[in-house]
Parts: sequence; structure tokens; C-alpha cells
Amino acid sequence: MSIQLKNVSYSYRGKYQTVRAVNSVSFDFDEGKVYAVIGKSGSGKTTLLSLMAGLDLPTEGDVIVDGKSTRKWDRNRMRREAVSVIYQNYNLFPLLSVIENIRYPLDLRKVKRAKADEIARRMRERVELSESYDDRLPAHLSGGEQQRVAIARSLAQGSKIILADEPTGNLDTKNTENIVNILKKLAHEDGATVIIVTHDLAVAEKADVVLRMSDGELVDKA
Ligand SMILES: Nc1ncnc2c1ncn2[C@@H]1O[C@H](COP(=O)(O)OP(=O)(O)O)[C@@H](O)[C@H]1O
Ligand SMILES: [Mg+2]
Repeated sequence: MSIQLKNVSYSYRGKYQTVRAVNSVSFDFDEGKVYAVIGKSGSGKTTLLSLMAGLDLPTEGDVIVDGKSTRKWDRNRMRREAVSVIYQNYNLFPLLSVIENIRYPLDLRKVKRAKADEIARRMRERVELSESYDDRLPAHLSGGEQQRVAIARSLAQGSKIILADEPTGNLDTKNTENIVNILKKLAHEDGATVIIVTHDLAVAEKADVVLRMSDGELVDKA
């Protein structure tokens, strides 16, 4: 699934001032590739990601997901089926086990239990976690393992566009490498579109395309 930005701008309107966080950005993200977005704090990376995730609409321009503007999408449906976001702090449900966390989007959709379990186990394997993890709680996992569960959950959701905001921000070098390799496999083998916001140049180096955000503008580095 592709995602296109067409003259996308976003302003935060406060009582006394307006901040133009994203300034007329246009770019086509192709499926099957990993993109890294780097740039200083405050340059607009998180704002841009939230527009792509359909958490908010641009003030001007359009975000086109699978050929359709986010203005036209049922955005709840879009977030359930097309796009998912992975965060630095994993956002797992603390009281649900690993397999229940991964299965959660399927349970929401009322997929039959046996089928949901089968998909969840397949996705758990995709992120290289063994069966012994199924019944464990997030708090008893390392950061890298929790992030893998979060990725498996977005895969179970069926998302073909994976947006990640500093996904390795809390991880050491080895776990960072592992997460990036998993995201690369999802793009290169399964055709996912992966967009990683990162300040870690080692992560950016492994992406297929590196983009830089600067004062709300997106610049192709290549
Ligand atoms: N909720 C908000 N209200 C007002 N201004 C905001 C809000 N969120 C972010 N901003 C401003 O928008 C700009 C871009 O922020 P952000 O997208 O978070 O950048 P980054 O993720 O690159 O650090 C910054 O100037 C920031 O202060
Ligand atoms: Mg940010």
C-alpha cells in the first residue's frame, strides 16, 4: 500500500500564535521500502506522522492512503486496517499476555478464536519470538521483546503501512539492530511500507531512503 503527501501543511493554532509545524510537504512513499525520517527536535516529524496515521487531518493539502485522501477515509477504519503506528514506549496492554496483545485487533473484529490464535502465532513467529512467550506479560519482557510484540500486533491488524516514531529510542544497539532488521524484512519480503522517524543515524543508515525534516519541510537527502 502506498502513501502520498500532496502539499501537506499543518498548523497548531494557539490563542496567541500559530505554529506551522508541517509546511507544504509533497512526497510519494512506495510499498516495499523502508524510509527513515531524521531531523532536529521540533522540526515536525511527529506531526507529519500523525497526519499519515490519520490521527488528524492536514490544515491544507492531502494525505493519500491507498489512493484515497484521509479526508475521505473512515479514519477509524483506516487505523484498524491500513495504517498502524509503533511508538517508543511500545503501548502494550499491561494486563494482557503476549498472545492476547497480538490477537487484540482480531478480537476487536470478532475473528473466531481459533483463527485469531493461528494468525497471532504466525505474527509472533514473524517477529522471531518463540511459543514460550505466549503467556507472558509485557512487564516481564525486555524492551526489544516488547517492541517485537507491538510490531506483531500491528501485523495481526493487517496493516501494510507501518509508521514508527522513534521505535528504538529506548533500546540498546543489539535490540535496535534486531528491530530494524525485522522492519526491513516486512518491507522487502512482505511488501509493507515502513516509515521510521529516528534520531539514530545507525537506524537511518539501514533504510532504503533517508529523508530529513527541517522547519516543517521534508528534504530528500539522496
Ligand atoms: N499540540 C501542540 N500544540 C502546539 N504546538 C505543537 C504541538 N505539538 C507540536 N507542536 C509544535 O510543532 C512543531 C513540530 O513538533 P513535532 O511535530 O512534535 O516535531 P518533532 O517530532 O520533529 O520533534 C514544534 O514547533 C512544536 O513545538
Ligand atoms: Mg517527535
